[in-house]
This record gives sequence, C-alpha cells and structure tokens, in this order.
Amino acid sequence: MTERSNIQALIDKAETTHDLTKDELVTLLQDRQYEAEVFAAADRVRQKYVGDEVHLRGLIEFSNRCKQNCLYCGLRRDNSKVSRYRLDVDTIIDFAVKAKSYGYRTVVLQSGEDEWFDVDKMVDIIKKIKELGLAITISVGEKSREVYQAYRDAGADRYLLRIETTDKELYEKLDPGMSWDNRMRCLYDLKELGFELGSGCLVGIPGQTVESLADDILFFKEIDADMIGVGPFIPNPDTPLADEAGGTFELSTKVMALIRLLLPDINIPATTAMESLNPQGRVLALQRGANVVMPNVTEGEYRQLYLLYPGKICINDTPAHCRSCITGKITGIGRKVSETHGYRVKRA
Ligand code: 5AD
Ligand code: SF4
Ligand code: FES
Repeated sequence: MTERSNIQALIDKAETTHDLTKDELVTLLQDRQYEAEVFAAADRVRQKYVGDEVHLRGLIEFSNRCKQNCLYCGLRRDNSKVSRYRLDVDTIIDFAVKAKSYGYRTVVLQSGEDEWFDVDKMVDIIKKIKELGLAITISVGEKSREVYQAYRDAGADRYLLRIETTDKELYEKLDPGMSWDNRMRCLYDLKELGFELGSGCLVGIPGQTVESLADDILFFKEIDADMIGVGPFIPNPDTPLADEAGGTFELSTKVMALIRLLLPDINIPATTAMESLNPQGRVLALQRGANVVMPNVTEGEYRQLYLLYPGKICINDTPAHCRSCITGKITGIGRKVSETHGYRVKRA
C-alpha cells in the first residue's frame, strides 16, 4: 500500500465508521500532507449529520474573578494586572434579555471560579433567564454534585467544562492546586444529571503530545459528550507561560475535524481563540466540522477585561455589531442561522 492510500483509507474509515484507534488518530494528527482531505471529510459528516444550520449562543462573561491559578490563563488569581469585575444579577438578566432580542436562543453564562456567585444567586439567575424562554448553558467551573443538581433543577440545560487535557500529570502541572480526578468526577456527574455535556481541550499547551491529543478525542467519545470546543493555546504575557510557543490554527482545526468524524452528531463551536489566530478562523472552522458560534453579548468595558489570552477578537465591538457580523459570515458561505434551540439530536 502506498502512503497516500494508507492515509486516505484511514480518512475513509473515519468518515464511514466514526471509529479510529489511538494509533490511527496519531497517524492522522501527524500527517500534514492530507489535511485538506480530513477537513473535507469532516465537512461532509457535519453536513450529513447536523446539516447546514449554525446555532448561535450568546455568551455573557459575567465575572472575571477566579480562585484558580491555571498557568495559561489571564484570569488566574495571581495575575494582578487584570482589573476584576463581576456583574450584578440585574445586569446579567438585562444582557440575557438583549441576547434574546438579537434572536439568540441560548445564553451561555461564563465566569471564572467566583464564589460570590453562590448556589442561591446562580439558581435565581437561571430561573429568571429560563422565564425568557432561552436555553441556558452554564460554564463556571468545578462544583459539587449537589450544586450541579441545583442548577439543573433550576432549569439549566447544558454545562461546559473543558478537561483541557486528558494527560493527568500535565493537567496537574498546568493547573496547580486542581485535581484531574475531581474534574473527571464533575464531568461524569454533569452527564448523569442530564445536562447536555460540553467539554474540550486546549491544543498546543507546553508538554502536550499528539498521543495525548488522540487520548482527548477518544475520551470525548467515551464520555459521549454533546458538545466539544477546541482551541489553540495562546500564550498570555501576564502568565507564567508567557514565553512558551502557542498552539497552531491548523492543528486545532485538525483536532476539531477528527472530533467531528468520530462524534458525528454533536455540536461543535468554531471557537473565538481560533479566530484570534486567523482572521477567517471561524468561517474556516465552520467548513472543517463546526456548526456552532458563540458571539459575545457582554457589553461595555467588561469585554476588554475578560482577557484569557491576548488578541481576543470582538473586544471593542458591540453585541449588535457582532450579531450582524457573524450572520454575514455564516450566510456568506451558504449556511443558515438556526432558529431552534439547537439541542443535540442523537443519530447513532
Ligand atoms: N489560550 C487559549 N485558551 C485559553 N483558555 C484559558 N487560557 C487560554 C489561553 N491562554 C481557555 C481554557 C478554558 C476556556 C474558558 O478558555 O480552555 O477552559
Ligand atoms: Fe480560572 Fe478557568 Fe482561567 Fe483556570 S482557565 S484560571 S479556572 S478562568
Ligand atoms: Fe464580533 Fe465579528 S463577531 S466583530
């Protein structure tokens, strides 16, 4: 067998059976010659399983305070250069009302791990947003099962918690003080409680191998994730990883495309970090397997302050501008903005 047919056979296998071994994933991750074929196969699988509609989720970044100290992240507690904010409950609801007025059917409530938002406050916010008829995704980090249960009972539909990396040793090195086992516990609890489960990984963090990226992809399949967000690691000058090399756009979209091939019916966002590395990043991601975009609906100066990494897009734009910008990009490639809530429709 020639090398070309070997790689092509793996891509065909992924496209038809949605199943690859770790070694096969590693081979595809390492190959640079036939990337275009991987992307094209992921685009076909996306079209076949989730269609041409793109789901928009309005992102509210409601607190940039965080008790954790992840080495890669600009919001880490030891970064004294960030001015910290937290929105009050009324402002959060106001942004959700505006998100609805822009036509978004889901709001994503995202923050650092900020204990000020205790379970009662979160439950209050979730209930009020639910009354607007919106789907709610929560992304506020690691909590106890009881707290997740309370969010779920209040009406939260989905939860985002990236595993970041399935390499336990690497995880605990990059996230000092955090336990990889507890993060796994969180993901399994969320799944059991009936949330649509979102996870994902960072691509290109120092010390990561292609083998561990293959493990990440297989883990997402194993846990039957409903959404997977992948983004390149972008070094932040105000963190201990300032001088490290970052992840690349090409490799992050390759990981994303392989996830589409192996988990054909899930929701996959074209991530903000991808566009921060490539001006066409989200459109390209939508053509390499993605079917979701999460435009920012946070208003005013807060956008500039939610700085996980430098070069983040849209920090000087208004929610209204982003809404029309992203619609233009989606329709410009012949796709359509969805008018549904965009839950995962399982097609085994
Ligand atoms: N570059 C890219 N993504 C980052 N995140 C945190 N810091 C960075 C960075 N420097 C991602 C993490 C986290 C998500 C909210 O942002 O994956 O889960
Ligand atoms: Fe906090 Fe999340 Fe940043 Fe870690 S990645 S420091 S938990 S906001
Ligand atoms: Fe914000 Fe394009 S989506 S400027």
